[in-house]
Amino acid sequence: MLSEIEALRETAGDEINKAGSLKDVQDLKVKYLGKKGLLTVKLRSMGAIPPEERRAFGSLINEAKSYLESAITSQENRFRSDELNQSLRIEKIDVTVPGRYIPAGQLHPSTKVLDELITIFTGLGFTVAEGPEVELDFYNFEALNMPKEHPARDMQDTFYVSDDVVLRTHTSSVQVRTMEKTPPPLRVIAPGKVYRCDADVSHIPMFHQLEGFMVDKNIRMSDLKGVLELFIHRVFGSNTSIRLRPSFFPFTEPSAEIDMSCVICGGKGCNVCSQTGWIEILGAGMINPRIYEMAGYAPDKYTGFAFGLGIERVAMLKYGIDDIRLFPENDRRFLAQF
Ligand code: PHE
Repeated sequence: MLSEIEALRETAGDEINKAGSLKDVQDLKVKYLGKKGLLTVKLRSMGAIPPEERRAFGSLINEAKSYLESAITSQENRFRSDELNQSLRIEKIDVTVPGRYIPAGQLHPSTKVLDELITIFTGLGFTVAEGPEVELDFYNFEALNMPKEHPARDMQDTFYVSDDVVLRTHTSSVQVRTMEKTPPPLRVIAPGKVYRCDADVSHIPMFHQLEGFMVDKNIRMSDLKGVLELFIHRVFGSNTSIRLRPSFFPFTEPSAEIDMSCVICGGKGCNVCSQTGWIEILGAGMINPRIYEMAGYAPDKYTGFAFGLGIERVAMLKYGIDDIRLFPENDRRFLAQF
């Protein structure tokens, strides 16, 4: 009986030391020390041993048991630390490797200029209004003192949706829409897309305008000039001068074309300004009393000014872009420059 235990301890010890994996070790633990394990069964048979041999048997079997337990524990530890080392090796992250480049987008130059202008004018107390791009002929033309067959309609190459509906040709369409809803006084800008059937280096069929208008008692042309000068100085620098040239728009009287000193040559004359030293930048004027009649304002009580400018035109002068057709192309090589 004693030699049987010794033999069992020997084989079990061998098998445990040669085990190839954690799973093998755990299986051997069950095989020898589990509830029905080979050594456990021997331990249970203690009762059948003659009393004089029991002591020697008991100490031998307990010693065998603790020997196997410690062999198992050390094998388990070995496999667990192998496993850990392996996963540390495989899952290692090299934090010194340079990161992957994720290309970032940027704002379109039209958006940047639009945002800049909105910031300037809201800083002067103007609020932002919007109107539809598919517009009634009434708001785009008639309410602005351009009845059907008015020759001034020819100045704007209109996309007609039907006899009474157009794609708005300018943001001036927002003037009467806003005045109908809001009693004077008001200070409003209306930025947005406009459409004209025209295409060359300085014209594209869809572009952006910013309309501005202010109505109150005693608004004068000098107020218009002051506001425009301030905005030109903010966008192009305080050395830029402006001048007003007489012009004509059916919805303003008097009307003016606003020029600014050429940002390229500083006014000396170059081919951007056709050697004149001046660049036309926007249209403006004192709101024609006919517009107040259309909007339901008292024409004898209020005066005001209006102006309208092309966002892409401002962007071209600000960033030195010489072909407006680049704007709608969305070529990242172009957009990444601003
Ligand atoms: N709406 C005019 C245009 O698009 C510009 C303008 C606006 C002129 C307001 C005078 C007053 O050409």
